[in-house]
Amino acid sequence: MSSSFATIPKTAPFTEEDVALLNRVVGTASPIQRAWLAGFLAGFDASQAGAAQPAAPARPAEPLTIVYASESGNCETLANNLAKAARKNGLKPTLIDMADLDLAQLSAAKRLVVIAATWGEGDPPARAVRAYGELMGEGAPCLDGIEFGVLALGDTAYVEFCAIGKKIDERLAALGAKRVVERVDCDLDFAEPAARWIGDAVKALAPPEAGRGRVIEVDFGAKPAAAPNTDIVEAEITEHVNLNSSRSDKETIHLALAFEGGAPAYEPGDSLDLYAENDPAYVDELLKLAGLSGDDKLRSELITARDVTTLSLKTVETYAAQTGHQYVKTLIADGQAKEWIAGRQLIDLIATFPIALTTEHLRALTRSLAPRAYSIASSRREVGEEAHLLISAVRYESHGRVRKGVASNCVAERLKRGGRVRVKLKPNKHFALPALDRDIIMVGPGTGVAPFRAFVQERRATQGSGRSWLFFGDRQFTHDFLYQLDWQEALKDGALTRMDVAFSRDRPEKLYVQHKLWDQRRDLIEWLDGGAHFYVCGDAKAMAKDVRATLVRAYADVKALSPAAAEQAVATLEREKRYLQDTY
Ligand SMILES: Cc1cc2nc3c(=O)[nH]c(=O)nc-3n(C[C@H](O)[C@H](O)[C@H](O)COP(=O)(O)OP(=O)(O)OC[C@H]3O[C@@H](n4cnc5c(N)ncnc54)[C@H](O)[C@@H]3O)c2cc1C
Ligand SMILES: Cc1cc2nc3c(=O)[nH]c(=O)nc-3n(C[C@H](O)[C@H](O)[C@H](O)COP(=O)(O)O)c2cc1C
Repeated sequence: MSSSFATIPKTAPFTEEDVALLNRVVGTASPIQRAWLAGFLAGFDASQAGAAQPAAPARPAEPLTIVYASESGNCETLANNLAKAARKNGLKPTLIDMADLDLAQLSAAKRLVVIAATWGEGDPPARAVRAYGELMGEGAPCLDGIEFGVLALGDTAYVEFCAIGKKIDERLAALGAKRVVERVDCDLDFAEPAARWIGDAVKALAPPEAGRGRVIEVDFGAKPAAAPNTDIVEAEITEHVNLNSSRSDKETIHLALAFEGGAPAYEPGDSLDLYAENDPAYVDELLKLAGLSGDDKLRSELITARDVTTLSLKTVETYAAQTGHQYVKTLIADGQAKEWIAGRQLIDLIATFPIALTTEHLRALTRSLAPRAYSIASSRREVGEEAHLLISAVRYESHGRVRKGVASNCVAERLKRGGRVRVKLKPNKHFALPALDRDIIMVGPGTGVAPFRAFVQERRATQGSGRSWLFFGDRQFTHDFLYQLDWQEALKDGALTRMDVAFSRDRPEKLYVQHKLWDQRRDLIEWLDGGAHFYVCGDAKAMAKDVRATLVRAYADVKALSPAAAEQAVATLEREKRYLQDTY
């Protein structure tokens, strides 16, 4: 007769004393107690590993392929959330960054989810450009029999709202895949709709028997011990300095933030999300036009929490629906709204098509005020419990009105030394420094230079032996040379090996960083052949594209390659994760 006592063998990886102790507890435990303990330990281990697992499912988990196209990490985070939810529901997820996607992986999938962001003006995230092009191209595989769903992330402020998610959704269907969950297009406040969609997607994709087995509850929300703090924290502004001269037509603020109880554990390449407030003068004008001056509660809510500047197609439609304004309805019906909103803000809508508004109307017309991201311009290894930011005040004129960017002008005009600001760490492991002995080439005109100050500080602090080469550019040498002294010092102490600058307005003909790259193409290709990593940060609209095109031309020229082969050389750098971008 077998004993109902579980005896711990002497060979167990415990001391003799511990074996005796375990025998006292486990050895005499009832079957229910033993099952509980086994489940508890399995769940505990899984959650410690950051990959919580349910109790062993009754049958092998069904595969689920999750592809994410992400630039600033939102889709990547959601893809991870989906993977966790899928594991709990009898699915075995495989996560693929679209940067690494081989289309054969799609045709091999049984169930497929794509979570995609849109960047630029309706473009795919930079890392996803190659695979996205292949998916849209003629060589894309047949996806007959594959079940799929797409979650799209975007920003209604852009005309091409969620364009990439929409196109991928259409394309997968056109390639024969079967949509089992309808696409949802998320705005910047995506947390709730995305969580709901993930729940629906898992339900639609999970095998029918899932969830019937015994499941151990594990707290999936718990952060792994090593994860940096990404909560919103308050910081004190200890330095607030305009780095442009008083004769510059730009204003770029160097902000040093000090954190009580330690700075968030940021790494070079990470950003901070900054929670700014709206300009009270703008809000007052808006309230006056809306006929709601004097409502202090609303005023305060609009200043601190609502996006009162963005004018999207959705806003115009809401305005028409809420107020019944005939001219606005006509604008939409005539298909003119898209064109009309270009360069305009909410205030223009109310000023041009005045009508008495209520508090509820204004709430419906505005979304939550989103934070703005700023690259961290310091290394903790050099500055300790501080973080530095470099913020350029966005100012321009359109349709006869002077416009001011919300966050950058909040920083430039209203925040002062000694003031406080709320920020949240936004890690970016895709824009990190390589091994210490690797050379780095950094292209960062304007505020694009911010993360490279962090890189150079880090290289100094860690005594990296790899060489570092910075390309910087701005308007005028005398007035706009951001962090000039820092670079001079770094060149002197060796943290920076080499620097090339391009000031566009010092001479009659325009000079940009890409011209400097071209001038230095021989050395550049030599560095890259030696394994250097190439980083680009700053303007996404023109600069990043011109820089890439220049590098392609440089390969063609220096190595006598055909245009196609030169393009391939840069594409290879991208695939090897040696061509890295953080552009906006
Ligand atoms: C990962 C990341 C890192 C970043 N790092 C930095 C950084 O280090 N430093 C920095 O300064 N910025 C950085 N930015 C940009 C920053 O997040 C903000 O977008 C920027 O400061 C503008 O925000 P704002 O609130 O002042 O302007 P908003 O109120 O958001 O207004 C900006 C909008 O105004 C419109 N606009 C701007 N200029 C014009 C024009 N000339 N004509 C017509 N319309 C125009 C555009 O629609 C634009 O989107 C970064 C962005 C990202 C995504
Ligand atoms: C510079 C820039 C350009 C953007 N362009 C678009 C766009 O054209 N259409 C859109 O819907 N969203 C656009 N967005 C919003 C992003 O898609 C949105 O922030 C998304 O959550 C980013 O996801 P990710 O972190 O996974 O990259 C843009 C955002 C930035 C910062």
